[in-house]
Amino acid sequence: MTKSNPRQLAALLASASMIGMIAASASADMMPEEMSMSSLQYELLGRDDLWTYKSLDSYSEAPFLSELVAAGELPPVEERLPDEPLVHLSGAMSDGIGEYGGVFRHVIGGRPEGWNWMAGQHQGWGGINMAMQECLVRVGALWQVKAEDQSGPLPNLAKSWEWNDERTQLTLDLVEGARWSDGDPFDAEDVRFWWEDNVQDDNVSGWMSKNGMGEGTTMDVVDDATIRFNFQKPQGPSRVQSLAYIQGCPGPSHVLKNSHPRYNGDATYESYRNALPADQLPAVVLGPWVPVVHRPDEIVIMRRNPYYWKVDEAGNQLPYMNEMHFKLTTWSDRTTQAVAGTGDFSNMENPGNYVAALKQSQAEDSPTKAQFGPRVLSWEIELNFSETVGVEDDVDAEFRGLFRNKDFRVALNHALDRDAIGQSIARGPFSYPYPGGFSTGSPYYDYESTVYYPFDQEKANALLDGLGLSDTDGNGVRNLPGTGSDLEIDLAYDTGEPTDKKQVDAVVSMFGEVGIRILPRALDDIEALADSGNFNMIERRHHWVIPTRQTCDYVPVSIGCPDWHPADDNGNRNLFDWEQEMVDAVNLIQETWDPAEAAEAAKTIQRNWTENAYTIGLTQAPAALLINKRIKNAHPGTPVFMFEWAEDGVVRERLWVASDEQIKELLPGEAPSY
Ligand code: GLA
Repeated sequence: MTKSNPRQLAALLASASMIGMIAASASADMMPEEMSMSSLQYELLGRDDLWTYKSLDSYSEAPFLSELVAAGELPPVEERLPDEPLVHLSGAMSDGIGEYGGVFRHVIGGRPEGWNWMAGQHQGWGGINMAMQECLVRVGALWQVKAEDQSGPLPNLAKSWEWNDERTQLTLDLVEGARWSDGDPFDAEDVRFWWEDNVQDDNVSGWMSKNGMGEGTTMDVVDDATIRFNFQKPQGPSRVQSLAYIQGCPGPSHVLKNSHPRYNGDATYESYRNALPADQLPAVVLGPWVPVVHRPDEIVIMRRNPYYWKVDEAGNQLPYMNEMHFKLTTWSDRTTQAVAGTGDFSNMENPGNYVAALKQSQAEDSPTKAQFGPRVLSWEIELNFSETVGVEDDVDAEFRGLFRNKDFRVALNHALDRDAIGQSIARGPFSYPYPGGFSTGSPYYDYESTVYYPFDQEKANALLDGLGLSDTDGNGVRNLPGTGSDLEIDLAYDTGEPTDKKQVDAVVSMFGEVGIRILPRALDDIEALADSGNFNMIERRHHWVIPTRQTCDYVPVSIGCPDWHPADDNGNRNLFDWEQEMVDAVNLIQETWDPAEAAEAAKTIQRNWTENAYTIGLTQAPAALLINKRIKNAHPGTPVFMFEWAEDGVVRERLWVASDEQIKELLPGEAPSY
């Protein structure tokens, strides 16, 4: 089943009837027809069909843990589990209840910075952090939930929540009796520490921004298993979604407090951030697997968490698999190894590999299955709108003035042949022009609210001429009317993926044809530059699918974001009116209880973004999920990216492998020891 067909049909009908109207209005066009490539197959369930919380008559555990219990090294499984553990329901599992044992092999391009995620450290991405962290609520599996049941996130550490009548207070009931992987109880104190000493502490820059739950929101501990948020204004179910990965995930307060300056006079915020270095293992986690070995640039080995607080309906403590590997190589290698069968999983997101990977994975004896989803990957150019941040001279200042001029941004759009850009990253039917805003695979994308400025060099030239940008010295490059300099703009991009370089090459030549010289700046890690605001233009993959997910990466909901429109040290920034309208629309999505109102607000964002060319979209493509065929319960409906990345969406604690196909563990019989 593909979601996009009915929508495309409706959109096509609408576009046909709108042609007359559009022709009259300046240069705005409709997007061309889109062909979906999605092959996802699923039947949607009710939100309560996925998991629940209840006590079962009896519990079992991985056999090697029973041996540790018998040897007195671990308490019995009943004592390690909550009274009412989270129970994964069989009806949501495509292959049903599993067998214990085996290894799940990931390959990633990132490297763990350290284990203190609450202080903003990353663990190398690619699903490593999601294997160790648990958050108050969860969204990855929402792809499996029917539209009429899409009313906010799924429960996780918070097993339920209630609103007061005014919807200004949200009370969350935490799972009772869950334990960290070292056996210490998880309770409201861990959540308080996360909120008060991390999110609300200005010296800690974690993944949730200070206003991440709304401006002025406070949190109270009601009792050991209950917390309450107090809001300044009524809020809606989407607000609760902010407590999902990566934002609402408490760390072990019993381990970290002593390293935090508020509790330890010898500690600094720098030493706090680095309190859990990447080579200090095992880490203390609530997730299904615990990192126990880290060999830099080689591998992170994780072992099952003996205290994991989730079970299946037969009472088997999860996860099914004993070990998880993260080979530390490159992102492209992730796909190569999945196709070769030496890795078990890849979010195939490097279109250059698609044709070869698809061919190989279609062979009868291929070790892997490939499942394409809708187009959720998109690439764009971001122009720095700040009038002060990263402005080093008069030329930069003149650039920023130009970037803030809509005609200039529309001219850049008309200068781009997006079909050619798409074909440069992958030949064939994969790519579709990206005009900015929501990717077409987003449930919030709306065709009719999307303004498209198609390839038209004549229009681009006319707009640039109109801005007084003419080639005064006859060298083929336009000159700036103020400083007289050549219109020669730096464009930073990341060298991690060939996809970016190919698009930058295309952009250099297309902008060159209308008299704009681009100076590409190749960087190993674009994120640091983006955070600093010290750039004029950036090219990168940047996709927006769910408006409440990491909103600060897209619209200026807080002063530090988005990267291309930062406020300076004095808090100065000159927001456009239509930019503020997008912020208001996002806030409405957080506050409303009416899905139709949320959809309308998303249209406002899409229209404002594309009409004003907030960013210069390049191309968008689907991603495919590659999973080894021996892995059971890898549901064929799992999207690579929707509510969250597939590592969360596939629900790894319920994946399993039949015993005759299990791979040998590197550390058989070992449990993390502290
Ligand atoms: C990186 C990868 C994604 C996904 C995420 C998970 O961003 O590029 O495919 O694996 O990590 O956090």
